Amino acid sequence: MTEMKLSYAKNSEVAGVADKNTTVWTKKDLLGLEYLSKEEIELILDDAESFKEVLARPLRKVPTLRGKTIVNLFYEPSTRTRISFELAAKRLSADVINIVKEGSSIQKGETLIDTGRNLEALKADIIVVRHNCSGAAMMLSRALNISVVNAGDGWHEHPTQALLDIFTLREKLKNIRGINVSIIGDIAHSRVARSNIWGLTKLGASVTVCAPKELIPSGIEKMKVKVTDSIDEAIKDADAINVLRMQFERDEAEAFPSKIEYFRTFGVTEERLKKAKKNIIVMHPGPINRGVEMAAEVADGANSVILEQVTNGIAIRMAVLYLVAHAKKGKLV
Ligand code: CP
Repeated sequence: MTEMKLSYAKNSEVAGVADKNTTVWTKKDLLGLEYLSKEEIELILDDAESFKEVLARPLRKVPTLRGKTIVNLFYEPSTRTRISFELAAKRLSADVINIVKEGSSIQKGETLIDTGRNLEALKADIIVVRHNCSGAAMMLSRALNISVVNAGDGWHEHPTQALLDIFTLREKLKNIRGINVSIIGDIAHSRVARSNIWGLTKLGASVTVCAPKELIPSGIEKMKVKVTDSIDEAIKDADAINVLRMQFERDEAEAFPSKIEYFRTFGVTEERLKKAKKNIIVMHPGPINRGVEMAAEVADGANSVILEQVTNGIAIRMAVLYLVAHAKKGKLV
């Protein structure tokens, strides 16, 4: 941590420009990693490093977003993402309001755009939205002048999850370029997989996706990933594995008749990890289905960084909220 970054973390008036990164953030929204450059991703990661230092202080709070109002608008269940965004906003001294489907006018049939426009009229500055429809965050961002942050839209993207995954990898391995990351599980339904693929490949990692054939989306190779349906193959040369929740509730293809069958064929077990690199990093975005995609001993084992991912999510979301709130007009330099 350099002197400049420390002073930035203490003083919100410096515009997110770290010494090793002269990128200026110009986007009012964060909709997906597909739409970010390598430099913009690195800017978020660098700023998150500064905010992680803030979170290590006895007083874990900075006045950066004092006077701003952030609304968490969640149409789908969430534990980690919603609480993490709320904590991030509070650590930045913003006012936070949480809206979930139950108990709001969404239940009376109000549209996403109408809800967004009303929140804008109520002078919200940033809406963090999770929605079951792919493209919901982008649609909202086009309808509003205020910032929109995508907290997961359908099967499309979950950018802050991928950012915290990549941040955790960068902490552990120092560099993303050249590392091998295998994403294992329900690729077809996974916004986490898509965001990780965009982010990791832009930063120079080699990505393998591993799933039953029915759960590999057609054309995934165009995203510059290797594809396998062998779990042993996916684990063999990996520096890290990111194991996805098997989304049985969305599995129309019924790729597997039972959870036991899935675990037998694709579950990450201690036995399977014996053939992996000794220091392989084991990640999972949560929530975990223990004994389905991953054995409990692996989730709680020495190679697991699952709870570190959760902790890092706060710093990442602080960086994202900070950057969209301070977006500069103009081109990247
Ligand atoms: N990883 C993740 O998105 O978890 P939640 O659904 O609990 O937010």
